[in-house]
Amino acid sequence: MTDAAIAIETLTAAEAGAAIPDLAAVLIDCVARGASVSFMRALSRDRAEAFWRDVAEGVARGERILIVARLDGRIIGTTQVVAAGPENQPHRADLAKMLVHGDARRRGVGARLLAAAEAAARAAGKTLLVLDTVTGGDGERLYARMGWTRVGVIPNYALMPDGAPCDTTVFYKALG
Ligand SMILES: CC(C)(COP(=O)(O)OP(=O)(O)OC[C@H]1O[C@@H](n2cnc3c(N)ncnc32)[C@H](O)[C@@H]1OP(=O)(O)O)[C@@H](O)C(=O)NCCC(=O)NCCS
Repeated sequence: MTDAAIAIETLTAAEAGAAIPDLAAVLIDCVARGASVSFMRALSRDRAEAFWRDVAEGVARGERILIVARLDGRIIGTTQVVAAGPENQPHRADLAKMLVHGDARRRGVGARLLAAAEAAARAAGKTLLVLDTVTGGDGERLYARMGWTRVGVIPNYALMPDGAPCDTTVFYKALG
C-alpha cells in the first residue's frame, strides 16, 4: 500500500448512507482488536450499522463532518468532526471515532485522517477541537505527535471491550 493509493474524502449524507456497511466493518474490526470506542466486545453488525445510520443522519443535519480513508474504493479508516451543542460554543467541535482498520495501521492513515479533520474543522469556522482517548493507547501518541495539547487524565473513565476499566486522556488543539 503506497501513500498515493489512499484517498481521503469528506462524505455527503448520501455517501455516508452508502458507506454504512464498510464503516460498520471498520468499527467491528477495531472493537474486536480491543479498542475502547464506546462499544463492548462482540459488537454485532446490526448494532454497528445502527450507529453509522445515526452518524449519517447527523451529517444530513449538518452536525457532523464524516471523513474516510479509502484504499481501492474500500474504506479502511474514518473520523468525525462533531459540532459542539451549546449556542455559546459555535467555535468549538469534538473529534470523534478515529478508527483505522487493523490491517491498515502504522502507515500514516491515522495522521492523514487527523490532518483532514483539522482542515475541515477550520474550513467550517471552528477554532478549537477537543477529544478524549484511552490513556496509553495508539491514539494518545498520534494526537501528541500531531501537536495536540494534553489536558490531563480522568481515571476509570470507560471500559475496554473486555470489561476492564481504563483511564482517558483529554486533548485539545487550537486551530490557527
Ligand atoms: C489510533 C489509530 C487511529 C492510529 O491509526 P494509524 O493509521 O495506525 O496511525 P499512523 O499510521 O498515522 O501512526 C501510527 C504509528 O505508525 C507510525 N507510522 C506511520 N507511518 C509509518 C510508516 N510508513 N512506516 C512505519 N511506521 C509508520 C507512526 O509514527 C506511529 O507510530 P507510534 O504509534 O509508535 O507513535 C489506530 O491505531 C486505531 O484505529 N486504533 C483503534 C481505535 C482507537 O483507539 N482510536 C482512537 C480513539 S480516540
